[in-house]
Parts: sequence; C-alpha cells; structure tokens
Amino acid sequence: MSAQDQPSESKLWGGRFTGPTDPLMDLYNASLPYDKIMYEADLTGTKVYTQGLNKLKLISDEELVKIHEGLEIIRQEWAENKFVEKPGDEDIHTANERRLGEIIGKHIAGKVHTGRSRNDQVATDMRIFVRESLKNLSLKLKAFIETILKRAESEISVLMPGYTHLQRAQPIRWSHWLSSYATYFTEDYNRLQQVIERVNKSPLGAGALAGHPYGIDREFLAKGLNFDGVIGNSLTAVSDRDFVVETLFWGTLLMNHISRFAEDLIIYSTAEFGFVKLADAYSTGSSLMPQKKNPDSLELLRGKSGRVFGGLAGFLMSTKSIPSTYNKDMQEDKEPLFDALTTVEHSILIATGVISTLTINKEKMEAALTMDMLATDLADYLVRKGVPFRETHHISGECVRKAEDEKLSGIDQLSFEQFKEIDDRFEKDVMDSFDFEVSVERRSAIGGTAKSAVLKQLENLKAQIK
Ligand code: ARG
Repeated sequence: MSAQDQPSESKLWGGRFTGPTDPLMDLYNASLPYDKIMYEADLTGTKVYTQGLNKLKLISDEELVKIHEGLEIIRQEWAENKFVEKPGDEDIHTANERRLGEIIGKHIAGKVHTGRSRNDQVATDMRIFVRESLKNLSLKLKAFIETILKRAESEISVLMPGYTHLQRAQPIRWSHWLSSYATYFTEDYNRLQQVIERVNKSPLGAGALAGHPYGIDREFLAKGLNFDGVIGNSLTAVSDRDFVVETLFWGTLLMNHISRFAEDLIIYSTAEFGFVKLADAYSTGSSLMPQKKNPDSLELLRGKSGRVFGGLAGFLMSTKSIPSTYNKDMQEDKEPLFDALTTVEHSILIATGVISTLTINKEKMEAALTMDMLATDLADYLVRKGVPFRETHHISGECVRKAEDEKLSGIDQLSFEQFKEIDDRFEKDVMDSFDFEVSVERRSAIGGTAKSAVLKQLENLKAQIK
C-alpha cells in the first residue's frame, strides 16, 4: 500500500476516514505547490502561537525551546531548497507540522495546533505574506516615482504637443506629461499605504471559527507578529479575504496606469512621432525583418495589466457566494494573488528601467508643435482685450479657416490686415500670441504646464513619497 492509500496514517485529519482519497482529488485539493512560498510566514506564525500556548501553560518552557529549534531547522531546509515534500502534505501548514513531528517527535509537535485551526492559520500566513510583499512593492514604487521626477526635473525645458482624442491640442512641457504619470503613481503609492493598514490585522487565535477555547491572548499574538491589532470577530477573522481583493484591486489600478503610460510611450516611439527612443536593453528585434526594433517591454506592461485584472475578476467571482465562514473556495485566493504580486513587482522594475534609459528627441517633439495649437491662445488674446470668450472662440476659428483657405502654413502667417478684416479689435501685438513658450508659461495656475507650476508639482509629489 502506498502512503496515498492510507488516509488515517498520512493525513493530519485522517482520523475519521476509512477510505482513501482519489489520487486526482489529492492533486486537486493540494495547495502546497504554490503556498510553500509562504513557508516563512507559516513558521513565524507557529513560533508566536506556541509562545501564546506557553503563556497558557499548554506547552512547557522546555517544549517551547524544542519547538522553536525544530521550526528553525525547517526554515533552513526551505531556504536551502532541502525540504522533502511527502504525499499527504496538503499545504504548507500540514507540511511544516508533519516535518516538525519528524524532527522533535510527535508528542511535542502534536501540541502546537492546540486551539488553532488551519482556518486562522492560513489567514494569518496570508496577511503576513501580503504585508511583507506590499512593503517591498512600496519601496519599488517609490524608486519608480523618484526616477520619473528626476527625469522631469532635468528635462523641464522641453516642449511637446499635448493631446486630447490623440489629436494635437495644446503645447505642454514633456515634464508635465511625466509629472502627470508621477501623480497617478503617487496616488497608487498613497493608496498602497492604506491597503497595508487594513491587511495588517491579526486573525490568529480565532480558532476554526468560534474563537479560542483556552482564552489565548490575541493581542499578544498580534504584537508578536507585528500586526496592528486583531480582527474583532472570529467568524470574520477566518472568512475575510477582502485584503486579497483589495490587494488585487490596488495592483489592477496600478497596472492600469502603467498600461496607459506604456501606451503613450509606444505611440511616442513610432517613427511617425519619434519623440522617444527606447534603450536596446528594453527592446527586441524581429526574427524576419532585420530593421525592426520593437518596444516589447512597453507592450508587455500594457498586456500584463490584463492578467492582473483577470485575477481580481476571477477571485471576486470565486468569493461572491461563499457562505460563512471558511470554505475551500477560499484556497483560490492564492494563485491570482501570488501571480499579481510577482507581475506587479516585475512591471514596476521594467517600467523604471524603461523610463530611466530612454532618450528623447527634443527637436522632433518641438517640430510636432503646430500653430493651430495656439488657436486657443489667439482667442485668449481677444479675451484680454475685453471680448467675451464665446465670441473670441468663434473669431479665432475664423482665423484658422482663413489661413486654411489661403493655404498658409499656419494662423501666424495671416497678415495684420487679414486679422483686422476678421475683427477690428485685433491690434499689432496679436503677433506675440504665436509663441509656444509664451503659451506654456501662461498656464501657471496650480497644476498647469508653466515651468513654475510643473516644478511645484514635482516638489509636491516628492514630499508625498518621503
Ligand atoms: N490550504 C488551505 C487554504 O489555502 C488551508 C486552510 C484549510 N482549512 C480547512 N478547513 N480545510 O485555504
């Protein structure tokens, strides 16, 4: 008989079973292949939990020492890739407990789960793991934002077209565009700190669902695991996966922003635009067309946003009808979550690499500025002479049409007499309206594209991620 055929021997919960599990069911049920990534959180959770049991005198001081030595050995085995998985190791919790029994003997190891269930255990492990992952992502995101801000500062003098509907609209600073995405990412950064706060609550000591039968000190457990407080209802403690949903949503929104950022850069890197050029390090070639240099990094940033959102949508579907409290559906939190955490981390790093190494073509950006983009400035010129904007909008439109009819290269090519013909409130100084730098500098109100306004934005963002 193989180990799989002996349920009561090889499974922690095998006592009440007489028949073996279908081998496919074992595979279907097992989460060890992917939840072993949380081995460290699981061992730390057990370490602190047994301290709690020791305070209750359910584990003696000597036993506690042995348990902690055993847990440390297991930690090293995982770290050195030497942990031997066995049939019946359903998940990381059962694997670690089984191994602890082998190392320190089943008599002592058999006490660590007193009053604990895998239900509060897995929720605890997940929260520790997510918290640590999000803290790491927070540092990476901060470095990404800093990279954008640095670039924006040093290239503050470069102008380019700003777009709406992907049509040339008004001149802006390249740094204003950079600062726009830095603003999104700073919001993501701030949102992340709030998510971490909600993730970091302790479910440990809730038991299977109803609470702890020996009155364990849940505050003590929470403190030992660096949680900011406990979840106040044991049923919620074991069944709540909102922290997973929130993490997936946070990642989805960040990836959404990264995807739009990537899309802009893909467009700007085409030969037709030629505003930016990706470094070789973030481009790939074509197997057929020797001349090609493709922005694969950016396309993957755009593409991978879909899979993170897919994880969120899928997991929300999995949870929507789960009755209280723990149900096995909840094991489906892991794969989308782990995948999203990795995808988001890699995406931040790639995006950082792309933006820190690409080169810009200032001449091409400025050559893409056309006089029609100053039609609003022409309307504003008359506003300053006291004409209502609705009227000036119309007059400026007439100027644009006139220049087109006369096949001129732009509205600035109309003669002063032609302006006068359209509206005699035009004066000689109308010609001063046709300057991109002047147009940009006029927009100095908060959030605008004038140099002073952009620099203020950069300062403000810097202060937020300090
Ligand atoms: N592997 C399980 C999970 O990820 C652990 C919790 C199992 N609890 C249970 N009652 N079967 O959710």
